[in-house]
Amino acid sequence: MTAFPSPMRLLRSALVLLFPLFVAALRAAPAPSVDERVRDLLSRMTLEEKVGQLVQYSSREDMTGPASESSVTPQLEKGEVGSMLNVIGAAETRRWQKIAVEHSRLHIPLLFGLDVIHGYRTLFPIPLASASSWDMARIEQAEHVAAIEAAAAGIHWTFAPMVDIARDPRWGRIAESAGEDTFLGSAVARARVRGFQGDGSFGGTDRVLACAKHFAAYGAAQAGRDYFTTDVTERQLREVYLPPFRAAKEAGVATFMAAFNDLDGTPCSSNPFLLDRVLRGEWGFKGFVVSDWGSIEELRAHGNVADIRDAALKAFNAGLDMDMENGAFGPHVAEFVRAGKISQARLDQAVGAILAAKFRLGLFDDPYRFCDEARQEALLLNPQHLELARDLARRSCVLLKNKLDVLPLKASGLKVALVGPLADAPLDQVGTWHAKVDKKDTVTVRAALAQLYGADLHYARGCETQGDDRSGFAAARAAAAASDIVIAALGEDVFQSGESTSRTSLDFSGQQIALLEELHRAGKPIVLLVMAGRPLLLEKIEPLVDAILVPWHPGTMGGPAIADVLTGAHNPAGKLPVSWPRSVGQVPLFYAHKNSGRPEPLKPKDPYFSRYIDSPSTPQYPFGFGLSYTTFVYDRIRVSAPTLRDGGTLTVTAWVRNAGKRAGEEIVQFYVRDRVGSVTRPVRELKGFQKIELAAGEAREVSFQLAPADLAFWRADMSFGWEPGDFDVFIGPDATSTLTASFKLEEASAVAAN
Ligand code: GLC
Repeated sequence: MTAFPSPMRLLRSALVLLFPLFVAALRAAPAPSVDERVRDLLSRMTLEEKVGQLVQYSSREDMTGPASESSVTPQLEKGEVGSMLNVIGAAETRRWQKIAVEHSRLHIPLLFGLDVIHGYRTLFPIPLASASSWDMARIEQAEHVAAIEAAAAGIHWTFAPMVDIARDPRWGRIAESAGEDTFLGSAVARARVRGFQGDGSFGGTDRVLACAKHFAAYGAAQAGRDYFTTDVTERQLREVYLPPFRAAKEAGVATFMAAFNDLDGTPCSSNPFLLDRVLRGEWGFKGFVVSDWGSIEELRAHGNVADIRDAALKAFNAGLDMDMENGAFGPHVAEFVRAGKISQARLDQAVGAILAAKFRLGLFDDPYRFCDEARQEALLLNPQHLELARDLARRSCVLLKNKLDVLPLKASGLKVALVGPLADAPLDQVGTWHAKVDKKDTVTVRAALAQLYGADLHYARGCETQGDDRSGFAAARAAAAASDIVIAALGEDVFQSGESTSRTSLDFSGQQIALLEELHRAGKPIVLLVMAGRPLLLEKIEPLVDAILVPWHPGTMGGPAIADVLTGAHNPAGKLPVSWPRSVGQVPLFYAHKNSGRPEPLKPKDPYFSRYIDSPSTPQYPFGFGLSYTTFVYDRIRVSAPTLRDGGTLTVTAWVRNAGKRAGEEIVQFYVRDRVGSVTRPVRELKGFQKIELAAGEAREVSFQLAPADLAFWRADMSFGWEPGDFDVFIGPDATSTLTASFKLEEASAVAAN
């Protein structure tokens, strides 16, 4: 009789037979998604651990030396801290990460954030400068380098791009912006997010989370005063200030930062219209929102809450997810959840978004993958990065004046006086928010020109950017007397630009104007370099100089970049991203203004029109303006059809010719005017731009496409859409271009009726 195998034998045989199938099934089974991993982790977290993820502390490293571990370590070990900022370097971030991962119950890694605004160790031009290049590819490339260097130093998350529209240069943070225009600002926002995040897969260690800030309308601060009230209409908010944030969201930006200011009476950090209705409801944003430093606690100063408990409740329920340095969410959110004042769903939404960011970065698989000292050593400040910084800096230079072609200079055999407080200023030259800069890395204007002119370069500082001291004037006069030409590097020092540096005057500060007047008396040609974080007034000093070049604050390689432009090794093509005011009395000043009922007539018959009695109302230099060492002629504009219909597109073309003797790049700009709307419309709006390179004598036809959707706006009933009617189009070198054509926008029904 055959003995039946024992159950154990049967089971063993089954396992042997099935195991390969099991392995194959495992291999075939997709890895759990980020959402599945988040849900699983949330299900295992205590309320306190969840609240811990909402808390971000700053290292004290940037202020008082090595981070004070005593205050944070116990909370780290209990898993009650989710993120830190200002912890810098592969070794330092590894040290903190070990505490969080090895000592906390669920080993949830920290997220390390830092303001990498225009570079980490290799500093690129400030954002206002790089926006002057209108070169989206190179802006994206620069942010990728910034991400490579920051990630090599253990940083996971940059608090950039700042996408605030800035129309008031009294506001020092205009330096961090892409200027006044919504279309250009949106293009720059997309490029910067792509540079930091790539396609958002974060597979490598060369990308970091980006952060669209400061949400929203922070640049509309009344009187140009930082942190001050903003009171814009919903229409202006949606037409002007929100689009660059929407562009960042569409580009996949992982996080947002709420702004300090109150907007129409509600602080942005507790503003459900912004954080919930617009950001999540209308735009479908799935990432997380961090406060701007103590902006939750500041709800008390705003007078919006009575105490920090209320601030925590109001901000969290409005849609703010992470508490940067307030001490608000950590102590209070759990009690509100237990009391039912914060829903479990809202808590899990916030915590889930933060955990998802950590999963996407691969931090749960390897919490130390960004803390690699060897990679940090190899990547920071490498020659390729420096060359990219030099290239973007020269492309960011805007030439405003070049009388009698005094530029470009001969690259040798010329006696050059270099004068001014920005000529040899390694920290001022890199500008605000300079992350991990080491000023010994900066190549100054003086160092670059000394390489070219050697003993023929006569340097004298002349004066400081601030103060009354003129004792350096004599040396400056002597340098000018000994030279064929004077280069005056004037502008702002690093403490006059960026956060909390609003100014009531836009004049060159200290004794800089007096120095220029002194140099003018020497009777030599003068080239003025404006090295600042905002447009400074030129109307009075423009007659004293023969050329004006604006490198802004050009970063680590600003010196060689400026030398490249001054000597013609690079033909400047930068264009202003802001209107350049004649006086501070004009601001806020921008080209896309309304016409008013009394616009300035071509031939005024009487004084009763919108004007000043003591100044023209036009800018000193218009938005989009910038000269070249060659000249470009625009003509033959035409539209592909007299009518644009719903569902159709219209092509607008024009010819651009290089009428000069050398090749050059030109940023061709395309503007549109909606003549009549259910609400008043700007006199023109940028709707496209192209950077083209033309050889001497070469001409090329450029074209721009328009569809009805490109002409949509927030109409009288606050619906978003276009309206039929007559439109003008302009193609030219800046916002005052007069080469124009027109077309009619019709609805399909109108066509049927014809
Ligand atoms: C600052 C700035 C913000 C920055 C944050 C962290 O106050 O407003 O832009 O990202 O704090 O440093």
